[in-house]
Amino acid sequence: MRLDKFICDCTGLTRSQAGKLIRQGLVTLNQKLCKQPATQVAATDQVTLEDEELQLIGLRYFVMNKPAGYVCSTDDPDHNTVFALMDEPLLERLHTVGRLDLDTTGILLITDDGQWSHRISSPKHECAKTYRAFLADPVEESAIAQFAEGVMLRGEKLPTKPAELVIVTPTECLLTIHEGRYHQVKRMFAAIGNKVEQLHREQIGDLMLADDLAEGEYRALTAAEIAAF
Ligand code: URA
Repeated sequence: MRLDKFICDCTGLTRSQAGKLIRQGLVTLNQKLCKQPATQVAATDQVTLEDEELQLIGLRYFVMNKPAGYVCSTDDPDHNTVFALMDEPLLERLHTVGRLDLDTTGILLITDDGQWSHRISSPKHECAKTYRAFLADPVEESAIAQFAEGVMLRGEKLPTKPAELVIVTPTECLLTIHEGRYHQVKRMFAAIGNKVEQLHREQIGDLMLADDLAEGEYRALTAAEIAAF
């Protein structure tokens, strides 16, 4: 890889900013001043910028327990974003895998690997997501069959894909869906005349939110967890 590209990957600087710093003599390669942006660099080489050693950051994969009151977008002038809860370099490279609403809590995947997140959120892969929903009104048993068959959401042309509903108490349910339409869970309950008052995502694929990850906390996924998606 070129030296200027190596610096961009480590720091988030643009190629022209990196080139300028190199030409200014602020970069060393294996303890020697290097002023050529096109110089080839190997992963084992030591590069410093203004006397600080640079480290390449590989692809990153995290799971967070999202609290209410945070949005999943990268910038929102009116709300805190989930990235404000993270202490990681180059935060601007990260994105959430799908989105949870401002008031929805629970398991959220965050990465800078676009192919991986596409695999999880693409409708083709039908990755299961399980939500615990607290409802305004008691849910009828008939909702189980309605959701298994699919319901029409307002403004959409196709019914929802088969979803599994488990009634825990008359106003508390577990709903597993295999797609990710906008506000899907809230709109599914609206379609059967109910209202979601509180929503918490407990599971994505085989990955469950563990009790030891407190609200607002996150951790890196293990290699096995990454590969399982
Ligand atoms: N469905 C919703 O309605 N909201 C969410 O945040 C996630 C799924």
